[in-house]
Amino acid sequence: MRHPAAGLTVRAPAKLNLSLEVLRRRPDGYHELCTLFQAIDLCDELSVEPSDGLTLTVEGDAPPGEENLVLRAAHMLSPYAGGRGAYLRLRKRIPSGAGLGGGSSDAATALLALNRLWGTGLERPGLAEMARTLGADVPFFLHGGTARGTGRGDTIEPLPDVSSLWFVLSVPPFSLPVKTARVFRNLRTDELTDGLRTLQLAATLRSGGSPGSGDLYNGLRSAALRAFKDLGPYLVALEDASGREWALSGAGPACYTIAASRVEAEDLGRCVENLPGLRYVTSAAPAADLPK
Ligand code: C5P
Repeated sequence: MRHPAAGLTVRAPAKLNLSLEVLRRRPDGYHELCTLFQAIDLCDELSVEPSDGLTLTVEGDAPPGEENLVLRAAHMLSPYAGGRGAYLRLRKRIPSGAGLGGGSSDAATALLALNRLWGTGLERPGLAEMARTLGADVPFFLHGGTARGTGRGDTIEPLPDVSSLWFVLSVPPFSLPVKTARVFRNLRTDELTDGLRTLQLAATLRSGGSPGSGDLYNGLRSAALRAFKDLGPYLVALEDASGREWALSGAGPACYTIAASRVEAEDLGRCVENLPGLRYVTSAAPAADLPK
């Protein structure tokens, strides 16, 4: 039996990587990262309500069944709530498999929302352990806002919220199965870096500064260009049309550039509106947007 009145609805934001450096390959097959995550105001929405058993319905482009990280998160948390159940409804707006962290954000949001719904009372460190098991990007979304990620990207140091930062996203219409693993496999050792530019950008943000488009860095860019054969021409077309540098988020293929105001971002969005794919003008999302 469902109890809609006792439920809650929360937003699950997408992320961009303002900087992403790959430091080395680890013995466990993962890579050691130094990255700056930024949550943005492009969000999925997750509703949870008490129910018997665990059921998920999905509106939009994401798997509905057990392979959805939302359901895996719910199954992971439920034993800590005496095996309680929930009816979960996910409304997808973040494009999947684009490097925007949509699935990871949904999973973290499910942990936060169910922890509250069930009164489980787990603290952040316990939730972070579960998040880590679900995926390397999941722990960031327990914090949101701006944060530095180290280790597999799953050790999170929150940074102060940035003010008035706008982004134009352009998500090209191509995808790759098991994309993230493939892009990491395409990485060459001469593309490993020391993490310094990420630390410098973190210091800029900590002192209240804003990144410019020249500060954006992604050590997976060349590997992604090798994996996605159409990405190179797509980036050139974006840069030609806008007169700006564009960065890649995560393992791609979502591309973005940065603007100081909504008006500037909307102007840039119009410059690239004839390219194929999806376009979003969106702002940085503060950490406080997430349910505690
Ligand atoms: O943790 P997640 O399932 O998101 O990672 C997907 C794949 O990306 C991993 O199996 C691994 O091949 C690669 N990866 C990596 N180093 C990281 C994060 C992901 O090599 N820090």
